Amino acid sequence: MDMHPPLPALIDPFARPITYLRVSVTDRCDFRCVYCMAEHMQFLPKADLLTLEELDRLCTAFIGLGVRKLRITGGEPLVRRGIMGFFRQVARHLGAGLDELTLTTNGSQLARHAAELAEIGVRRVNVSLDTLDPDKFAAITRWGRLPQVLEGIAAATAAGLRVKINAVALNGVNDAELFELVRWCGDEGHDLTFIEVMPMGEMGEENRLDQYWPLSDLRAQLAERFTLIDLAERTGGPARYVRLAETGQKIGFITPLTHNFCESCNRVRVTCTGELYMCLGQEDNADLRAPLRASPDDVALEQTIRAAIARKPKGHDFDYSRQKIDGQMTRHMSHTGG
Ligand code: GTP
Ligand code: 5AD
Ligand code: SF4
Repeated sequence: MDMHPPLPALIDPFARPITYLRVSVTDRCDFRCVYCMAEHMQFLPKADLLTLEELDRLCTAFIGLGVRKLRITGGEPLVRRGIMGFFRQVARHLGAGLDELTLTTNGSQLARHAAELAEIGVRRVNVSLDTLDPDKFAAITRWGRLPQVLEGIAAATAAGLRVKINAVALNGVNDAELFELVRWCGDEGHDLTFIEVMPMGEMGEENRLDQYWPLSDLRAQLAERFTLIDLAERTGGPARYVRLAETGQKIGFITPLTHNFCESCNRVRVTCTGELYMCLGQEDNADLRAPLRASPDDVALEQTIRAAIARKPKGHDFDYSRQKIDGQMTRHMSHTGG
């Protein structure tokens, strides 16, 4: 006899079931990617952050409400002290409500942590890597070094983790490298996903528009050399995938600008201070830290989550089509974790 019948799942006003939670565990990062952060970021006081115990309680509450996929993000999640203990805790839900525990990382600390992540039950990691050119890499990330990330990726592969490379498509930066990135991922056995640059955080309208490389273009370039086979399979995220018939490898496209995917949105985000953002591209959020701290039980917390999901917006308002930026968010990507 089941003593704990499942609670009604989280369903938003557009009938979308919310089954995917992205949790940012820190706003800090050891890189300063130009499209993600200002060079001199004012980071949050540590006292504002949820403790790892609070983060675990929060994830557990969401899993109780029907979340089946958990992605840990940041900032850079692996720079938070004690984070492996947190992964270990949360992994107890794998196979018991949770289907997937994974992370999005810049790869800088993967060499140290890949084996333990695999042992804990992580199967896949998404690593942000926009270029294989060491100088360009340094210019994009400001503080990063390419060899360190390549070592991290190699460690992940050696540990048996599947690696998906995330590359933000940047005109004038990595456009000339398209086929090199594809070739490298094919050789190394990594999936590769391209992302259209979104207007998160101030960067200067000109720069952002100059750098915007529509994936419809990128796709057309790929189709000149490869046969693209559209795949129906999904990973639960927003990417749409093709297979390159000639190499067999998988390429994903995340197209918030050229093809809005919000109608199938299944996710919400929590920041490291416990703000619940119902959409990456909207300001509305709900404070989960107060109910977490107000009571040792989760009644108020769950109520707050349900009330927030009940006002999840239809989608973002990002739009560059009038040669100007609409739907700009003032918060940086590192605040919400992408
Ligand atoms: P998998 O499908 O599990 O591999 O993951 P994913 O694509 O959901 O996650 P990943 O962290 O690789 O996402 C890559 C990037 O896509 C994010 O950092 C964002 O930039 C973008 N992205 C993810 N989800 C959304 C979303 O809901 N809306 C928008 N506009 N962009 C998103
Ligand atoms: N637009 C699109 N993707 C971005 N990322 C960071 N900032 C932006 C942006 N403005 C990506 C990173 C990483 C993920 C966390 O989000 O490259 O893959
Ligand atoms: Fe750090 Fe990732 Fe943002 Fe780059 S994109 S600054 S690696 S959090």
